[in-house]
Amino acid sequence: MDYINPALVIPPKTQKSGTVSWRSPSNLALIKYWGKHGVQLPRNPSISFTLANAYTETTLSYESKERKTKDEGRRTKDEERRTKDEGRSFEDIDLTFLFEGQAQEAFRLKQLKFLESIADIFPFLRQLNLRIESSNSFPHSAGIASSASSMSALALCLCSVERTLFGSFYDEDSFLRKASFIARLGSGSACRSVYPIMAVWGETPEVRGSSDLYAVPFVEDIHPVFSTYHDDILIASRGEKSVSSRAGHGLMEGNVFAESRYAQARSRMSSLLSALKSGDLEVFGQICEDEALTLHAMMMSSSPSFTLLRPNTLMLIERLRAFRQRTKLPVYFSLDAGPNLHVLYPDEVKVEVGAFIQYELARYCENGEVIGDVVGSGAERVFI
Ligand code: DP6
Repeated sequence: MDYINPALVIPPKTQKSGTVSWRSPSNLALIKYWGKHGVQLPRNPSISFTLANAYTETTLSYESKERKTKDEGRRTKDEERRTKDEGRSFEDIDLTFLFEGQAQEAFRLKQLKFLESIADIFPFLRQLNLRIESSNSFPHSAGIASSASSMSALALCLCSVERTLFGSFYDEDSFLRKASFIARLGSGSACRSVYPIMAVWGETPEVRGSSDLYAVPFVEDIHPVFSTYHDDILIASRGEKSVSSRAGHGLMEGNVFAESRYAQARSRMSSLLSALKSGDLEVFGQICEDEALTLHAMMMSSSPSFTLLRPNTLMLIERLRAFRQRTKLPVYFSLDAGPNLHVLYPDEVKVEVGAFIQYELARYCENGEVIGDVVGSGAERVFI
């Protein structure tokens, strides 16, 4: 299945225009995707919590390129000049991109490259003038990865435009599956963001319908305690990442531990799924921490090696483990591909853990910054 569909073209002499907006959240992987092959295919299955407060909102506006022409089918003088100046053809995708209200050429080119790469899936993109406006709910410099929320929001917008123009998708599941597929092509982890609560990406025998091509929702087989879980993000450092996720995935190809890492992820997935079902918070938390540290161990054992952990990340980990030892409360951590600590705990201990974070952990965060988040209800369309 590749969704390539030459039939998705707007008939000649038909003018189309519209606007669609989606808000899509970030997600935190508990079993990590780290290592890929082919066209954005994961080396092992992963599972994530969908977050609520950290999201991207994207608005995609479109109008037929012909719309501005007097004589249908021919370009305006302006359009001709512009495409000529840029050395581009009328068939190329025409994109204006604004991030938080500002033109951002580097982001625009990235999005343009992505849209060109999926133009066989959405051939109508070549027939439209596109304008994307995007903004994040979290501070740009907070060191929170935004590719999952931004690529999933864009993928959802594109599928909505397809639905409006061609009446595609016989049900919501097929709509979300295609959005997840498209999001994956933009950024692997983004494919998990379209679903509420939890999502699994990558074929795994325990999850029916799971696939390397898109994520599937994972809600029925989890204990209710997980649907209100907290994930507070402690900003150990706001600094730019020294190595991108993309490059990090690439380095797994030469990592001597790669094969055993992938096998380990599969076996941990199986244990985690059991803990999610039974509500065993201790097993759940241990696996989350082991996965977080393995992810960073893979970075440190790549060639060349690199470290994204900062001294404050380790301070935070030590304090959190000591607190758990002392109080016996089920509070554990995870990490993304960065230095910031994700503190995971059930809603029933939020008062105790909240106080601990505020009085004992915030001091190890850059400017004391902590972003409180919880498991969320997934992406939603925004009507403006
Ligand atoms: C550590 O999805 O950002 O967050 O597919 O190259 O865009 P690309 O990588 P990306 O990698 C995410 C890695 C991770 C783990 C995870 O989310 O599963």
